[in-house]
Parts: sequence; C-alpha cells; structure tokens
Amino acid sequence: MADTLNLVTISGSLRSGSYNTMLLRALPALAPPALRFTALDWSAVPIYNGDVEKAGIPEVVRGLHAAVRGSDGLIIATPEYNHGVPGPLKNVLDWLSVGKSPHGLYGVPVAVCGCSNGTIGTTRSQAMLRQTLAALNAPALPFPQVLVATAQDRFDAEGKLTHEATREFVATWLVEVERWMRKFPRGER
Ligand code: FNR
Repeated sequence: MADTLNLVTISGSLRSGSYNTMLLRALPALAPPALRFTALDWSAVPIYNGDVEKAGIPEVVRGLHAAVRGSDGLIIATPEYNHGVPGPLKNVLDWLSVGKSPHGLYGVPVAVCGCSNGTIGTTRSQAMLRQTLAALNAPALPFPQVLVATAQDRFDAEGKLTHEATREFVATWLVEVERWMRKFPRGER
C-alpha cells in the first residue's frame, strides 16, 4: 500500500446540521486506503484584527497553522453565502496567511468541495475561494469539482450521504485528490 497521506479538513460552516460538515464526514468511507482525515476545529478563531495580530497571534490560530503545515494537504468544504465565500471561512484563511513565515497555506495543496441547498452547488463560492488560494500560493486541485447542489435531498436524517451518484462522484474525486496531494510533498514547501 502507498504511504499514508494525512489530510486535514476545514468545514466552512459551524452549524450543527451543516451539510458541508456531513460531506467531510462521508470522506473516510469513500476514500482510497492511504488517505487519513483530521477535522480542524476553528470555532474559537476571533475576527481578524491587525491590533490582535500585533499583540500576538491567538493560540487557536497558531494551532491551525501548525496543523495545516504539518499535514499532507487540506480539504475545504465551503458553503455559499450571498454568491460568495462565507465570511467566517475567509476569516480563517486570512488568519492563516499572517504571522510566522512561511504562512499557513504557502505551498500546501488544497482540494475544495462544497454543498448548498440551491441548484448550482457553491459554484460561485468555490470560484472565489480558488482566487484566495491562488493569492496564498496554495495549489488547488482544478478538476473535477465537487459541487453538491440541493444538499437537503442527498443526506439522510442522521447526516449520512445517501445519494448514490454523489457518493460515486466523491469517491472518484478522492482518487484525484490523492494524486494531487502527492505532487506537493511536505518536505518541498
Ligand atoms: C445562504 N445559502 C445560499 N445558497 C446558495 O446556493 N447560494 C447563496 O448565495 C446562498 N446564500 C446564503 C446566504 C446566507 C447568509 C445563508 C445563511 C445561506 C443557503 C446555503 O446554501 C445553505 O444554508 C447551506 O445549507 C449552508 O451550508 P451548511 O451550513 O449546510 O454547511
């Protein structure tokens, strides 16, 4: 078996019934055997303020920085708010981009996915997110794109991803995620 890849995940939604968090929870069962997943908790990250940064990067941000840099890659599941990246998620990325050099995402491979209850499944927020990742020199897997529309019809009451075509597509995507993450070895960032 190929060497294990330790991936970290960020759900762009903190709500308990989040479809994006549910999607991330579905990944281990659909992934190639070498992939491991650790969900990052960013619920205590404060709103970015340059004065706070100057006084000292918050402990929670330093922990996220270390976790992302110490991983083999990052998976972000983003909702779409008002045709864009949710502010709280952008705030986390902004915090990761400051402080100790190299910053938290510099050279770290990323795979983006997302769920919305609308009909075009986070297309616009993912496009915005990719723009931000390009600014951070975080290479994002360009294709295929996991755009889960009408998420309310694809998960059951227990939060399990039950929509068979989506499960198959996510499994195919995870094969590409593994190939992508292996192109950017941890020691070369
Ligand atoms: C939304 N939602 C939404 N959906 C979409 O497809 N396009 C959009 O522009 C928006 N805009 C938007 C703004 C705000 C403030 C909220 C709270 C919601 C709906 C969104 O897709 C839905 O709430 C998802 O369920 C959010 O993701 P989680 O929390 O389930 O992961």
